[in-house]
Amino acid sequence: MEKVRFGIVGTGRISDWVLAGAVEDPRFEAVAVCSRKEETAQLFARKHGIRLCFTDVEAMAACPEVDAVYIGTPNHTHADIAVRCLAKGKPVLCEKPFASSAFEARQMVQAAREQGLLLMEAMISTLNPNFLKAKEMLSQIGPLRSYTSHFCQYSSKYAKLQEAIAEGNPAKLAPVFNPLCSGGSLLDIGIYTIYPMVVLLGKPERIDSCLQTVGVPSGDPRFACVDVQGTAQFAYPGLSASVRFSKVADSFLPTEIAGEGGNLLLDKMHICRKLTFVPHGAPQSGRGEDMPGEDITCPPFKDEYTAEFTHFIDLFLAGEKESPVNSLDASVAVMEILDEIRQQAGVRYPSDRF
Ligand SMILES: NC(=O)c1ccc[n+]([C@@H]2O[C@H](COP(=O)([O-])OP(=O)(O)OC[C@H]3O[C@@H](n4cnc5c(N)ncnc54)[C@H](OP(=O)(O)O)[C@@H]3O)[C@@H](O)[C@H]2O)c1
Repeated sequence: MEKVRFGIVGTGRISDWVLAGAVEDPRFEAVAVCSRKEETAQLFARKHGIRLCFTDVEAMAACPEVDAVYIGTPNHTHADIAVRCLAKGKPVLCEKPFASSAFEARQMVQAAREQGLLLMEAMISTLNPNFLKAKEMLSQIGPLRSYTSHFCQYSSKYAKLQEAIAEGNPAKLAPVFNPLCSGGSLLDIGIYTIYPMVVLLGKPERIDSCLQTVGVPSGDPRFACVDVQGTAQFAYPGLSASVRFSKVADSFLPTEIAGEGGNLLLDKMHICRKLTFVPHGAPQSGRGEDMPGEDITCPPFKDEYTAEFTHFIDLFLAGEKESPVNSLDASVAVMEILDEIRQQAGVRYPSDRF
């Protein structure tokens, strides 16, 4: 069996999580890790049985023993690292959000196309079997009328954000809440409601959004606020979509795709573990009975992160340059939407060109 030998950039929690899923695909092999510190690289390498350690991403990408690179570092570093790895001739699987902005996303796409190399955003939600089944079923419930999605998760890093604000201490500001690292709820978890919407429906005609922001001590007064939750409405022809995301409150509401012929309910948009189909019943008003739902959940992967590596490895071995699901157009379109929402709220990052 042909193995695909990966180099991993970043030794944080997400790299641990994705490796646990990736190794479930027997074609996956982690051969190298790149960290900002040699010591951290060594620790991570020992933990995961990785042979090669680097502190320079270009040196890792140039290594002939590395076939492809996975990027699991903070948002503001994705574009730079991806472009440098592509320039060294290596395909890239890059964590979500693809980049800080559409400007950066286009630079990444251009680099991949110029080099003729595979590039894909590691958006787990749209490679989930239940999401793919829901996508296949859209014609059965059409014409579509609404898409409503939520991802609200009280952040384990919120207490530290409050401390950073109270003390005015930039050192306590985690990248996920730091505008200098392209942080905030929209790019961190709002994207899980918006990316699937774009894969299902394309780009909306109009966006009306509202981000709740807080002032943060980033150390740079030009970038001193970050969003902690938000909502957005999207207009499509004959269809409206709305999303809600939060890092300061939880939500247990499912995602719902509604058509004139029935509804699809996904229990969680981030990682859907239960898919329900509710066929449209007789037209009714007032106090009519609800139609019973049918559980049409797909058998789960042993580990949910396996899907993105299996998909990427399939594409790599087939010589493909992009995913038909997590396409480069989808990644750029999503970044354009995120840019627009940030512009409406005045949330800015250092790399912005708008
Ligand atoms: N798909 C998912 O389910 C999921 C879940 C969580 C996060 N994510 C995404 O994964 C990415 C990382 O998130 P995280 O929460 O793991 O971030 P993090 O803990 O802040 O950083 C991850 C790792 O990146 C490296 N790093 C930190 N700052 C850096 C910098 N300025 N330049 C270069 N490398 C740096 C560090 O590794 P070294 O010390 O080894 O350099 C760090 O451990 C984000 O883009 C996030 O959106 C995805």
